[in-house]
Amino acid sequence: MAHSSLAGKRVIITGGASGIGLGVVRFFASQKSQISILDISAASAESVVSSLRSEYPGVTFLSKKCDVADWDEQKRVFAEVYQELGGIDIVFANAGVTELGSFVQKDEGEPTKPNLRTLEINLIGNLYTVKLGIHYLRKNEAAYKGSIICTASNAGIYYFPIAPIYATSKHGVVGAVRSLAKSLELEGIQINALAPAVIATNIAKDRALFDNMILTPMSTAVSAVEEFVTNPKVTGAIAEISGEKFTYREQPEYIDESTEKNLDMFWTLGYA
Ligand SMILES: NC(=O)c1ccc[n+]([C@@H]2O[C@H](COP(=O)([O-])OP(=O)(O)OC[C@H]3O[C@@H](n4cnc5c(N)ncnc54)[C@H](O)[C@@H]3O)[C@@H](O)[C@H]2O)c1
Repeated sequence: MAHSSLAGKRVIITGGASGIGLGVVRFFASQKSQISILDISAASAESVVSSLRSEYPGVTFLSKKCDVADWDEQKRVFAEVYQELGGIDIVFANAGVTELGSFVQKDEGEPTKPNLRTLEINLIGNLYTVKLGIHYLRKNEAAYKGSIICTASNAGIYYFPIAPIYATSKHGVVGAVRSLAKSLELEGIQINALAPAVIATNIAKDRALFDNMILTPMSTAVSAVEEFVTNPKVTGAIAEISGEKFTYREQPEYIDESTEKNLDMFWTLGYA
């Protein structure tokens, strides 16, 4: 469906050269938005952008090499995009990788430092994108300043023993989105997350893995993004992406009234 409100919107998409990022790039291209793809692989981003330019003539695409886990690089790239597009309206913090290394490997001698690169990309890199997104959305003059969407995972909702650091990173994204929403709402900024089940992309080390899985179509992830960016009232939502439809997942019930009241009191008093 075409939404006139999305035409010309300036969109940043991290990890946009492949998979879910690319699926969402195509959605915004179909809406005639202006799209900047940030990806650690400059070559993939460049080649994707050159084919998108012929597929969607008249749509603006930028491609930028950016490792989201590198604050200085990401800060510089956001500044370039802001300069080149004249503003930023929608930020999709999506870049991510699977588990790298094994946290539970046995060490023969001294304990080895864990490989936390997955956390650095999926959680810290994601928070860098959110921080930069907030900074640039605040520059928009209208009362409604724009939308931030983060890609978490259903491994941010359920336990996932094969990839504990991946699960940690995605639980972190869910917690950040839920907790940032209230203060950002006061400034007219939306923040929401996708929590996808299995979508066939290049994230798997071996795509044969998908032969054993019940897959969720890309269109379900895209429909949640479409809802977020066309409904400014939705914020702090976690859309679980499984099957043909997305489903909002609430935080767990409060154990008792005092817990709910105390947590509200931190907010009311303005300090933690
Ligand atoms: N595919 C799934 O089943 C699934 C399920 C749940 C969540 N996710 C999440 O979706 C997001 C996108 O993954 P995907 O499945 O589309 O994978 P993908 O590998 O197809 O695409 C990820 C893109 O991110 C880029 N990238 C990787 N590290 C980066 C970095 N440090 N900085 C910038 N770009 C980087 C890659 O080059 C690639 O283009 C990830 O956050 C992933 O955890 C995927």
